Amino acid sequence: MMNFNFFRNRSLAIDLGNNNTLVRDKNNLLVSQPSYIVFNVENNTVKAVGEQAYSMFEKHHDELKPVKPLKGGVIADYDSASRMIHELVRQVNGKSFMSGYEYIISGIPFSTTEVERRALRDALGQFNAKHTYLMYEPLAAAMGMGLDIQEPNGKMVIDIGGGITEIVIISLSGVAAFQSVKIAGDTFDQEIQDHFRRNYNMAIGLKTAEQVKIKVGAVVDTLVDKPEPMIVRGKDLMEGIPVTRKIDHSEVAHILDKSIGAIEHAVIQTLETCPPELAADIYLNGIHITGGNAYLRGLRQRFEDRIKLPVHIDDEALHSVSKGAAKALQDPKKYRSVLME
Ligand SMILES: Nc1ncnc2c1ncn2[C@@H]1O[C@H](COP(=O)(O)OP(=O)(O)OP(=O)(O)O)[C@@H](O)[C@H]1O
Ligand SMILES: [Mg+2]
Repeated sequence: MMNFNFFRNRSLAIDLGNNNTLVRDKNNLLVSQPSYIVFNVENNTVKAVGEQAYSMFEKHHDELKPVKPLKGGVIADYDSASRMIHELVRQVNGKSFMSGYEYIISGIPFSTTEVERRALRDALGQFNAKHTYLMYEPLAAAMGMGLDIQEPNGKMVIDIGGGITEIVIISLSGVAAFQSVKIAGDTFDQEIQDHFRRNYNMAIGLKTAEQVKIKVGAVVDTLVDKPEPMIVRGKDLMEGIPVTRKIDHSEVAHILDKSIGAIEHAVIQTLETCPPELAADIYLNGIHITGGNAYLRGLRQRFEDRIKLPVHIDDEALHSVSKGAAKALQDPKKYRSVLME
């Protein structure tokens, strides 16, 4: 017989991201999967979630409907998002999860509307937790990076995720200045895809575009450690036949230049609107960059050149939000002021 209290005392920290969903308990990473779900069209059942669903993307047929339920970092398709998170949590816990949880803490972007927050709260309602809290992702990310968010000392965090880039200045457990732009990883992938279409009459999939970004992606062309150029496979738009083309990091830096410039502009605006005492702190503390796209080659060099502040790149940039939420799980009373009902 299973011990009922065992389930009652369980808690989950969730980062339901635009591109990746991570689930932790207080101490361990339990799930890290792409935020994708595939349905059987005929009977509306779930065919696949996570990694498996992602691998089917852009390769499916008419009997399957693939969905990426989040856009711009928030739930865009409520039903698909609920079912995706249901399936991912079930992978860890089997059928037993409906017996309830003590705490569920989930990240949400800072710049969200009440409607967007309610959609996430409702989707989490299926887990019947005693306490369900939302936590602003940039605050969670700061905690996940090991920054003390509670002291009166300004910290700047930039989270360049898949659907949204958020820039915040944190002090005393709150956000003193912020900017957010819907320019993030998905935009970069799209721009790489568009570049191939426009300049080489070549159609490539979004997954291929993302691989280009990961393998040879850069934001400056003067890299010390240059990656090997990559051979990209796609389809010639005129002839309709499969073709290949080589691309190197400097070409990607050129493609991404405008978007990275827009993010830099938002960083500068955030600094401009921030009170002078906090600006002085950031001068000393520098800028902390997290989110999967923090790994773009040359990002530190470029930001240091343009913004003239020290830049720290999170070396676990895909994990900071979920790590921070898990830290809050360990001591919900201590972090009560950053947890929203
Ligand atoms: N090595 C890498 N280099 C560049 N980009 C990367 C790398 N690894 C992952 N990414 C990108 O990081 C993004 C996913 O990051 P992350 O998991 O932080 O986003 P998310 O939390 O799902 O999205 P959001 O925060 O917008 O809701 C994707 O755009 C992915 O292509
Ligand atoms: Mg994120």
